[in-house]
Amino acid sequence: MNYSSSLSDNPVFALVKKVARQESLETYVVGGWVRDILLKRPSKDVDFVCVGSGIELAENLAREIKGARVSVFKNFGTAMIKYKDWELEFVGARKESYRNDSRKPLVEDGTLEDDQNRRDFTINAMAISLNDNNYGELVDPFNGVRDLKRKMIKTPLSPDITFSDDPLRMMRGIRFASQLMFDIDPDTYEGIVNNVERIKIVSVERITEELNKIIMSSQPSYGFKLLFHTGLLKIIFPEMVALHGVETINGKSHKDNFYHTLQVLDNLCEYSNDLWLRWAAILHDIAKPPTKRFNNKVGWTFHGHEDKGARMVPKIFRRLKLPLNDKMEYVRKLVKLHLRPIALVKDNITDTALRRLLFEAGEDIDDLMKLCRADITSKNPDKVKKYLSNFSKVEKKLLEVEEKDHVRNFQPPISGQEIMQAFNLKPGRIIGTIKEEIKEAILEGDIKNTKNEAWKLMIEVGKKNGLELVSEK
Ligand code: CTP
Repeated sequence: MNYSSSLSDNPVFALVKKVARQESLETYVVGGWVRDILLKRPSKDVDFVCVGSGIELAENLAREIKGARVSVFKNFGTAMIKYKDWELEFVGARKESYRNDSRKPLVEDGTLEDDQNRRDFTINAMAISLNDNNYGELVDPFNGVRDLKRKMIKTPLSPDITFSDDPLRMMRGIRFASQLMFDIDPDTYEGIVNNVERIKIVSVERITEELNKIIMSSQPSYGFKLLFHTGLLKIIFPEMVALHGVETINGKSHKDNFYHTLQVLDNLCEYSNDLWLRWAAILHDIAKPPTKRFNNKVGWTFHGHEDKGARMVPKIFRRLKLPLNDKMEYVRKLVKLHLRPIALVKDNITDTALRRLLFEAGEDIDDLMKLCRADITSKNPDKVKKYLSNFSKVEKKLLEVEEKDHVRNFQPPISGQEIMQAFNLKPGRIIGTIKEEIKEAILEGDIKNTKNEAWKLMIEVGKKNGLELVSEK
């Protein structure tokens, strides 16, 4: 097959060809870009490999392209050019041998064939020539085209070699399977099972990067099941494996919380593309195993799993090197609140309860409702219908209360500064006390969320605490 027409879509390829010819460097496009062209998903990240110095090729090319920025990574023997929205990576063909105790390889120069041998999967080991004699021709020594057609992830060499060379590839294999909905070839799968322990030498950041890509695939449960069955999940994320299994006492069983969580995650993917909301789905029941109890009357309970789960979020984020910032707070909040909308389903629910949830969820209330909807995993369609319609009712009530009381983005109607001025106070605890009383009164519905009503209450609370008003509003 000749792919010169795919190459003609971007003038960069003709330029690389020109420069490579000037330098007499045998050069190819290789890896993910080739795979994606064959899958008809053209991408803007291109890897070039040449038999010689990739850095030299990149530097010479950068002189030909106006506005190109080249970065050289001497240690890795690679160079990158950013040009418009393209990211072009250049590397010299290598033959690598890996040390046993580390991912860092000892690198030697090699031929194109050597380079293709050391790549991770057959579908990632294809190259397209940029050379005069066979421009556009596909070089596919491991039949990557066949594996794309039969939707198969397979290592080019024996899986033990490919995976022990670079154990991150076990995660990558499952990630590609999950993104592309491919199978994993049985020998390759067995290779993962045999090498799982070696994932421990890979940095957490890189593992988590792959995990996040699995989470962002359209049906992440598939990737998680592969992680689980190969044994990788137990090593990288044991809390999730602890969700697996069903216990039965006196004929009473609880559901398998691992598969439940995966279904919630898949359901959520229909509502949201947000990585952090998906993380909230993964973690919403994470504390069910440590809070599980059996009670003769009511059967299995998981009391407090939402609070304990919320407390587990920072620990898990820290260990997985996920960001410890507002994203983590968001996930923690959703885990903590995930049962609250269910409690609001009752007919006689008070406005106070609705206001409190709006106040605590703040601007994340819509995401919380998405999570709750996804949390419905009953197999009985009538029940699903009923639960969904209950949530719609709750949402309607939330909207009504929000329109009336505006507590969703609650801002104190009177600032600390104003309280200090009103009573001629220096900063101190009493100001916090007054603000808290005003907030509580609004949430309880004792006063409206207006400056006037808050001002009256402030005077009252001030009086109770022996303060005298010295300045009017
Ligand atoms: N590669 C490899 N082993 C790795 C990482 C990468 O063999 N551990 C090779 C593969 O040939 C891969 C290429 O390097 O196709 C580029 O890697 P990368 O940019 O990480 O992945 P892509 O295949 O381009 O896919 P994606 O952009 O989806 O990550």
